[in-house]
Amino acid sequence: MASRALVYFLFVSAFAVVTVHCNSEGDALNAWKNNLSDPNGILQSWDPTLVNPCTWKHITCNNENSVTRVDLGSAGLQGPLVPELGVLRNLQYLQVYNNNITGSIPAEIGNLTNLISLDLYLNQLSGNIPSSLGNLKSLMFLRLNNNNLTGSIPTGFSQLILYGNLRIMNVANNSLAGTVHPTKSTGFVVTTITQDPRAQK
Ligand SMILES: *[C@@H]1O[C@H](CO)[C@@H](O)[C@H](O)[C@H]1NC(C)=O
Ligand SMILES: *[C@@H]1O[C@H](CO)[C@@H](O)[C@H](O)[C@H]1NC(C)=O
Ligand SMILES: *[C@@H]1O[C@H](CO)[C@@H](O)[C@H](O)[C@H]1NC(C)=O
Ligand SMILES: *[C@@H]1O[C@H](CO)[C@@H](O)[C@H](O)[C@H]1NC(C)=O
Ligand SMILES: *[C@@H]1O[C@H](CO)[C@@H](O)[C@H](O)[C@H]1NC(C)=O
Repeated sequence: MASRALVYFLFVSAFAVVTVHCNSEGDALNAWKNNLSDPNGILQSWDPTLVNPCTWKHITCNNENSVTRVDLGSAGLQGPLVPELGVLRNLQYLQVYNNNITGSIPAEIGNLTNLISLDLYLNQLSGNIPSSLGNLKSLMFLRLNNNNLTGSIPTGFSQLILYGNLRIMNVANNSLAGTVHPTKSTGFVVTTITQDPRAQK
């Protein structure tokens, strides 16, 4: 009897340990926090010792405690995006507009295939737009305007416009080459594309 209870106890303990160590989404967000300067203390509630990040401010989860929204627009944050963000597989809204985000857009953002809205406008992002963003089949809103992005617009974006759900795409006020033709209507609404006027014919 006692040994059965002990076995049960060991099983429960092992399970609890596994659960705690499976907080990969909290770990990913905490890795990002550690790379950011946060002069306004916006991320103060981001406590990595909690079982998941669902009670953190500016984070929303679904009923399976998986992150669906990150709302950090106009938060005064400075620093890069980190590749770890690619583990937030249920993320639908990544709202990080109007901060001082620097560095390039990690290719891993292209792993967020449930993303509906990617709002990174009004920052200081540089480098190319990764072609992996063409994998974002759920994307409806893509706003990368007012950054320092260079290179060309990934060809995959035209697939998202023609066959996907992309409705609003604003890449203006960067230093991107090439043009996008704002002519295609998707199933339900006309896609709005705003391109850097300097690159337009
Ligand atoms: C960016 O940083 C500068 C200098 O710290 C600051 O004055 C400015 O308000 C910041 N911009 C945003 C959008 O947070
Ligand atoms: C984030 O910070 C870690 C530790 O300081 C560093 O190794 C890593 O390169 C940083 N990531 C980015 C994207 O700057
Ligand atoms: C995430 O994206 C990167 C770069 O696009 C890729 O190398 C990696 O295999 C992806 N990871 C997963 C888990 O899909
Ligand atoms: C971004 O571009 C603007 C204008 O081209 C320039 O003044 C600024 O220094 C650039 N910022 C970064 C972080 O490269
Ligand atoms: C581009 O920048 C200019 C000047 O800052 C601004 O007036 C304009 O609204 C911006 N365009 C878009 C599409 O964001």
